[in-house]
Amino acid sequence: MQKTALVTGASAGIGEATVKRLLKDGYKVFAAARRLDRMAPLERLGAELIDLDLTDDASIVAAMEKIRAAAGRLDLLVNNAGYGSYGAIEDVPMEEARRQMEVNVFGLARLCQLATPLMRAQRSGTIVNVTSIGGKFGEPFGGWYHATKFAVEGFSDCLRMELRPFGIRVVVIEPGAIRTEWGGIAHQSLVERSGSSAYAPWALRHAAVLSGAESGSFASPPEVVANAIARAAAARRPRIRYGTGGGAKVFLFLAHWLPDRWKDALMWRMSQSRRAD
Ligand SMILES: NC(=O)c1ccc[n+]([C@@H]2O[C@H](COP(=O)([O-])OP(=O)(O)OC[C@H]3O[C@@H](n4cnc5c(N)ncnc54)[C@H](OP(=O)(O)O)[C@@H]3O)[C@@H](O)[C@H]2O)c1
Repeated sequence: MQKTALVTGASAGIGEATVKRLLKDGYKVFAAARRLDRMAPLERLGAELIDLDLTDDASIVAAMEKIRAAAGRLDLLVNNAGYGSYGAIEDVPMEEARRQMEVNVFGLARLCQLATPLMRAQRSGTIVNVTSIGGKFGEPFGGWYHATKFAVEGFSDCLRMELRPFGIRVVVIEPGAIRTEWGGIAHQSLVERSGSSAYAPWALRHAAVLSGAESGSFASPPEVVANAIARAAAARRPRIRYGTGGGAKVFLFLAHWLPDRWKDALMWRMSQSRRAD
């Protein structure tokens, strides 16, 4: 029987690469995002497109309903969609902080809720939540983004234990620096919010780091993450966490072993390592 997958954030970066990889692996793939035009090439490759806005509950419910009606099953849910809302915590309007949580945490959680009954009926299924190495340490000016990724790490640990009796697996993917649209969006949000506030001298240096991280020599193409997701989905007994691409393994090692004050010092040094652009 053909396996069915839903990939969120499929209009760019890691999601787009994951859809292509899963199609190659023989899945029936539902590709979801707001920009349907950007997903037209995926449709030509055989994916079914879903218009999904994670800030809108009706849109999330309709997406899962479409899959139920068209396929009647869901073997793999890849919760990948997300963005980096940057800015000094003092400068970020609470409305934007809530939106960041809505997309990166509550939208993902809602999809988990809605996928579970389908997977429970099959007594199988895999939920892959894409967090970040930023779910294991913080950096200045990324408070809300890191809060979402820490949240999804903890949420996924709880979900994994709850769903185990039903044969449903929960996997966390922790990418490092990946060449996608993510860095440009994070950079722009930081400059807009803190580029002329009391934090400007430091925020602008950090913004330069954000835009440089993806082009840096240690950044990886999104296919590296897509391959890790496909590997986890295919494994008989997947690992709980996959650190992958763009220096992830080194950062995760340091996040685990460095004393907190050393971590602060390292992250501040990295944050301020470039000239403001
Ligand atoms: N790139 C990195 O260095 C990196 C590192 C660690 C973790 N990650 C994580 O990896 C995931 C994928 O990011 P990426 O690097 O591939 O970034 P990307 O190229 O910017 O893609 C982000 C995707 O999320 C979707 N999205 C954003 N807001 C949405 C909303 N309200 N509703 C539905 N979809 C929405 C976008 O689609 P539409 O705009 O068309 O809706 C887009 O397809 C994210 O969770 C990110 O935090 C990335």
